[in-house]
Order: sequence, then C-alpha cells, then structure tokens
Amino acid sequence: MTKDNLSKQEQTEFLRDGFVILRDVIPLDFVEQARELIVSGMSMTERRILPPRELATHPNVIRLFNETCLAEIMRNSMGPYPEVISCQIAVTPARNQLYGRPSPHVDGSWSGPIPSERDEIDPVVGRPLDAERYFGRNDEKRGMNDGLLWQDPDKRISLGSYTALVGVALNEQLEPGNGQFAVLKGMHEEVEKSFRMQRDTGSVIGPEGTGWPRLRASDEDGRVHLNGLPEAVRARMANDAEKASEIKGWPWKELTPVCLAAGDAVIALHSCPHTATPNLGPNPRMNLYFRIRRLRENNPFEGSRKVGHGVSDHPDRGYFGQYLDYPESYDAWQTSIDKLCDHWSEWDFTREPKKINR
Ligand SMILES: [Fe+2]
Repeated sequence: MTKDNLSKQEQTEFLRDGFVILRDVIPLDFVEQARELIVSGMSMTERRILPPRELATHPNVIRLFNETCLAEIMRNSMGPYPEVISCQIAVTPARNQLYGRPSPHVDGSWSGPIPSERDEIDPVVGRPLDAERYFGRNDEKRGMNDGLLWQDPDKRISLGSYTALVGVALNEQLEPGNGQFAVLKGMHEEVEKSFRMQRDTGSVIGPEGTGWPRLRASDEDGRVHLNGLPEAVRARMANDAEKASEIKGWPWKELTPVCLAAGDAVIALHSCPHTATPNLGPNPRMNLYFRIRRLRENNPFEGSRKVGHGVSDHPDRGYFGQYLDYPESYDAWQTSIDKLCDHWSEWDFTREPKKINR
C-alpha cells in the first residue's frame, strides 16, 4: 500500500525534532524527469535564489508534491491546504562555499543589501540608521529573495510564515558536506517561545520585535549580517553546539545535516530553523522545496494564484508584495500570530489519535 500518513514513530520524531525524513517516497522516474528539466533549464555552476518561473511551475516539477504520496501524507497528518502551484528549486553548485558560512534562519524574512558596519545600525531593533536607503520608502522595497519587510500595513508582524517546508532530494546527498539542507534539531519549541514572548510583551512579532534585531553585528568579526534567529535561539544554538558530537566532513557543529538519497523527502516545521550548507562535493546538490500552509477556512484568498501557494513564505500578502483586500471579519495577520505562537495547532495528528497509521 502506498504510504499515506506519518507512522506513529515518524510523528514522535517530528514532534521531538521539528523535522522528519521520509525515505524513498518519490518515484524515481519523476525524480529523473524533474532533474533533467532543471539541468537543461538553469545554471548548475551559479547559485540562484530565484530560479526561472517556467521551471518552478512546470507540471513535471510540481507533481513531485501534487502527484506523490507527499500530498496525501500532508493532508492526513496536517490537514487540508490550497493547491500547490509552484516551488523553490534549490541548486547548490559543486564546490560552492555559499558565502562562507551557513546561516540558520526561520523562514519568512526579507533579504537584500544592508550596511556593513556596526555603527550604521540601531543595535536594539537592528534597523539601518539610514533605513530609507536600504528598505525604501515606508519599508516597501522587495527583498532579493522576494521577501517582505512587513506582512501587514500596521507593521505588527515582520515575518512571513507557513506550516511546513517539504523538501525533495533530486540527487544523492548522503555524505555530510555535500550541500545538505541542515536544521537546528529540536529548536522549534524555543522559536515558538520567542514568538510567545514577543506577543506577551506587546512587541512586533518577528525581526525588529523584542529580542530579535533584524540586522546584527557578528560576535566574531563585527560585520553586520541579516539576523534570521531570535537572540534566545542563538544563545541556545551556541550552547547546544558545544555539547554536540563530531560528524566527519561536517564542520558546523550546531547544525544537523539532513542526509537524503534521490527520492527521499523531509518535512520541517516552519519554526524549525534551517539553512543551506556549503557543497564541498563534486556534484551540484539539487532539492525542491514546497512551502505548505494549512488551509484557513475564513480566508477568501486561499487558492488565489496571486498568493503563489507552494513557493511563497509570506502568503498573507500577494507573492509580489500586493496587500490583499481582506474583509473586516478576517484578520489574516492575527491568525498568523496565533499559529506562530501555537504551531502544533495546525496539525490534525496532534489532536486525532485515531488517524495514526500503525
Ligand atoms: Fe529558508
């Protein structure tokens, strides 16, 4: 029988670690056809954050979610979701150092050019002192990752969110150091705690809120970088790294490599911090990522193409940053805040033990 749900064991791992690996769940002919399309349609030597849209929406690419057991596994474990129409194609070329160091983050932030020196930013909220230059007027400059600085016009929430990232490996990446998707294992509850603290202190939710400067000067060299993690999470990451055991070929102790073979998949909670890693190996590392958000029944824009379901990490606005005209009765942003502060509430399996596969 085709797999159509998480096993009890997988549910336990997912709850504990914030991610779960599913082995051999994608038919290899689907994997090969998607890989061929991608190899012939985009560069394998240059890293692109935003691959060509024709590829990201190609039927033979998005079927790796829509027409495989992943669609059913997500429906049965999480719940209903709007149709997936696009995805992220993530290729890390061979022997690519990825700007030097991996940078674990919670998805949903803006990225773009920023000042480089410590004295050019406000250290508390982490905004450039000359914000308009970098963020545009009223913070409306779209990120080079298509991310947005704010989700709502009132600037209550700066982080886009969804329920889970579903990754599919298109080639083998079993040996650490070959560009693995990597996670801060088990850190999802600490992330949720940070969101709750922000909510309970009446703060902005996300970067620029309490305990989460948007830009941060590095403790090592003082250079300013985009800060993808709340400070409490960063502190725990450093602490966990000290206790972590060595993995051969893997110099980033704070990170857990997700080692996949072609046709394997990984489901990671939005709040499980993740990152791409340098590819020290001889082959490009090729993954697809589908960003899935549980259906919000009262949201009239569920299923609208302008949201970019499957690829967008900011589905409360249009993919290109358009504000959606929500009815008075539906507060899209408060709904997202509620979910960020209670992430398991979006998963049916946490409430319905009868659905569990044995
Ligand atoms: Fe990410």
